Amino acid sequence: MDNKQEINSKADIRIAPMIDWTDRHCRYFLRQISPNVMLYTEMITCGALLHGDIDRHLRFNDEEHPIALQLGGSNPSDLAKCTELANQYGYDEINLNCGCPSDRVQSGAFGACLMKTPEKVLECLSAMRSATDKPVTLKCRIGVDEFDDYEFLKEFIATTAESGCDTFIIHARKAWLKGLSPKQNREIPPLRYDVVHQLKQDFPALKFLINGGIQTLPQMEEQLALTDGIMIGREAYQNPYILADIERQIYSSANILSREEIALKMIDYARGQYENYGTPVKSITRHILGLYQGQKGAKIWRRTLSEAHKVAEDHFTLIQDALDNMHSKKAQSCIAA
Ligand SMILES: Cc1cc2nc3c(=O)[nH]c(=O)nc-3n(C[C@H](O)[C@H](O)[C@H](O)COP(=O)(O)O)c2cc1C
Repeated sequence: MDNKQEINSKADIRIAPMIDWTDRHCRYFLRQISPNVMLYTEMITCGALLHGDIDRHLRFNDEEHPIALQLGGSNPSDLAKCTELANQYGYDEINLNCGCPSDRVQSGAFGACLMKTPEKVLECLSAMRSATDKPVTLKCRIGVDEFDDYEFLKEFIATTAESGCDTFIIHARKAWLKGLSPKQNREIPPLRYDVVHQLKQDFPALKFLINGGIQTLPQMEEQLALTDGIMIGREAYQNPYILADIERQIYSSANILSREEIALKMIDYARGQYENYGTPVKSITRHILGLYQGQKGAKIWRRTLSEAHKVAEDHFTLIQDALDNMHSKKAQSCIAA
């Protein structure tokens, strides 16, 4: 078996949890492009689940499997209850967020600030594991604030792995909890892939997936060879058809749908969502703006779909309008007012 085949046969590629982006419509869309990647929900807090509309937060389309629910919280008993809910809804994995640096999350004492209290994370993961047979995984940074040396991270992994959690998704940059916005915290702290590679060396029995700044096929293949898997965030959202390249080149898949076939599937999906749930078309079209990224006509596609707020909520053929406009190169002309 050559090196490439070896990588491909075990390729574990996941699409990152992204608040406001990876909702069920986005995930359905990404799944049409890639049958093989694992999908994650946005982070859903225990508070939202235990005191809010559970079905609105947890409902997903069958086609989305394999799918992980990412939870935000720090109360072991609440996390266990939410894990039970995840079981009822049929999620394939439950993930604990220890990487989000937002103020809202810090005031709830979860997300990245949890990295400062590994014993607490151990309790949380143990409670979650006791509530499910499905894998419980952890997503974290390589450090937080002044807790950023390798020994700290190593200790954090060793402690939290005592829960039995054996899969860690590491965003390979530290987070600053004060002074940087969440967006800056995804850009300013330098990427340290070497730290994740070192973790794999030090804990060979654990699984480490690497995340942060992975955008190209060569980068993906390089990281797949050095780690147990990769997680892709912004690139998958902004340039979603890269998932077709992943299918073709990494999974050697046949029958990859064209951009147009995917667009047509999204019309049917939008119709079904409107008829079953009253979902306005704009809730769906906002996630597919990047489908033609880098292609001729991409601007027209994007511009037509961006008019979604001006059309009736059930105007799911807006997606067809965008295709027609691209084909005829007459932007705007077919949008029903
Ligand atoms: C809009 C947005 C929302 C995000 N929301 C979450 C989240 O809910 N949970 C989480 O663990 N990370 C979240 N992240 C971080 C991503 O999961 C990922 O770790 C980060 O974007 C780095 O990966 P990338 O460089 O491939 O984008 C978010 C990122 C973005 C851009």
